Amino acid sequence: MLKRKDLWRLGFHLMPPEGWLNDPNGLCQFRGLYHVFFQYAPKEAGPDGRPARTWGHYAGKDLMDLKFQGVPFWPTDAEDHDGCYSGSAVADGDKIRLYYTGNVKQPGEHDYTYSGREANEILVETDGKNFGEKRTVLRNRDYPEDCTCHVRDPKVWKENGTWYMVLGARVKSPEQTAEADRGEVLFYESGDGFSWKLLKTLSSTERFGYMWECPDYFELGGKTFLSLCPQGVPAEEFRYQNIYQAGYYTVKGELRGKQTLHSFREWDYGFDFYAPQTFTDENGRRILFGWIGMPDHPYGNPTAERGWENCLTVPRLLTAEDGVICQNPVPELAGLRYHETMIMPRETFCLPDGTGDFEICFLEGTEEQEWKISFGGAAELSFRDGVLQLSVAENAGYGRTVRKVKTDRIEFLRILVDTSVLEIYADDGKIVLTTRYYPDYQGERQDLAVQFHCPSAAITGWRIHPHCFF
Ligand code: FRU
Repeated sequence: MLKRKDLWRLGFHLMPPEGWLNDPNGLCQFRGLYHVFFQYAPKEAGPDGRPARTWGHYAGKDLMDLKFQGVPFWPTDAEDHDGCYSGSAVADGDKIRLYYTGNVKQPGEHDYTYSGREANEILVETDGKNFGEKRTVLRNRDYPEDCTCHVRDPKVWKENGTWYMVLGARVKSPEQTAEADRGEVLFYESGDGFSWKLLKTLSSTERFGYMWECPDYFELGGKTFLSLCPQGVPAEEFRYQNIYQAGYYTVKGELRGKQTLHSFREWDYGFDFYAPQTFTDENGRRILFGWIGMPDHPYGNPTAERGWENCLTVPRLLTAEDGVICQNPVPELAGLRYHETMIMPRETFCLPDGTGDFEICFLEGTEEQEWKISFGGAAELSFRDGVLQLSVAENAGYGRTVRKVKTDRIEFLRILVDTSVLEIYADDGKIVLTTRYYPDYQGERQDLAVQFHCPSAAITGWRIHPHCFF
């Protein structure tokens, strides 16, 4: 049960009404309504709640005002009884088609990596309110023989009358170990979206992790991208710092021919970002939602004991420049501001209820930049010697410490603060850092003091926008 007066509940991020949330699923806009589904365990917080993972559903006309609709289907069938796992949506004609992975663990002694698990790709049609029968369109026997039992997360789209699906997969090595297995994406095609055949498989030239989850394939700014979530990539000082990664490759070559993958870039450098999914809305905008959550240790998400866990990012509008994707909150977010203040450099301001967004413009120039911003002493963002660093204080991090990213200098910052979430967008969304953090609000809604220390970098101004929610 949710505890009343939970000061870490969020103002403008989608979260589970109660229970557990992970990946965004089935994103689409159909007849003017946005639909945002998500991985959901409604009965309990924690990743292993029973019944097994299913989908939850938010919908609404305005991306910033989506209402919870309930659970569209349950994992009660022979082909999905251990979870209605992640998947996607295609709005086509008078229906939305939802595709997800039905997860089945066979009883008895087995190893879930190499045997004893079924991954069924299942289709459900909907008008957005009523959900039809489940129909299995792919099964284990339809996957390439070298795949392990880990195949999942169908992302489907329609192009020139043909349906395409990418699936994330773990390919078996002779050694059958996580150190040697490799991640890959399976491409399927179909004339009708019901019966599918393998078109090809695609992986990186050099092995990059043992499993690729949640693939997404799309065009943006004249280039093709493959987004995916590799598992098993070793951490480096300035990259791959979380237990699992989320990023995208630039793809060269034609969809129906041979393709190669180039320059993997991480979507986000914060503690909490995984399993993003994109879609195009009816205005042709490419929008991304990500999961603000990460199954890392020793992190102990303190909202679990309050009956809920995790949330989604705000919808991010994607644009691409020279193969780099910029992410920025959709313009609709500005509609939540109730008042705008323009303050020329000043050291401190307060965000009422710990919620709002603000912008900082740094003076252009060649001088060394050095500055830091403190969020009520609970988190700090700093820049020094070409390193942008996000740190979370011990009493607000629950096991989290520091994330770093290298960059020459910062011209512009947009920061979203939502009681227990920070989303930091630097330089027009070329670098993004997202994290949960847990300031001590001491039992009452309180202002969050944001403090700026700036020995060197001259700034032209702050713009602060509190949000009106409570
Ligand atoms: C990614 C993921 C997916 C899977 C889902 C299950 O976070 O592991 O690969 O479909 O979560 O909830």
